[in-house]
Amino acid sequence: MTSYFSWNGNPVAFQPGETIAAALLRAGIIDLGQPLNTPGGRVFCGIGACQGCVVAVADAAPVEACLTPARDGLRLGSLPAVGADHV
Ligand code: FES
Repeated sequence: MTSYFSWNGNPVAFQPGETIAAALLRAGIIDLGQPLNTPGGRVFCGIGACQGCVVAVADAAPVEACLTPARDGLRLGSLPAVGADHV
């Protein structure tokens, strides 16, 4: 059974144990939106140091996509979307 989270309102499939960043990259989603410390809002370091991969989570605090395991039903989006309808 395939699991999914949503990214800006669109379903993204992931494998068990995969991080949010890995699933997004595998789906061809490279631009994560508003960057914090890195240009472009992208997965850069992959180890939680650069904050370039921070994404919005509906009804929760933003998370580092490179460190956070994907979970079925998560509603995620780029940071400007915090509180917006499409997360
Ligand atoms: S890619 Fe640098 S913190 Fe996630």
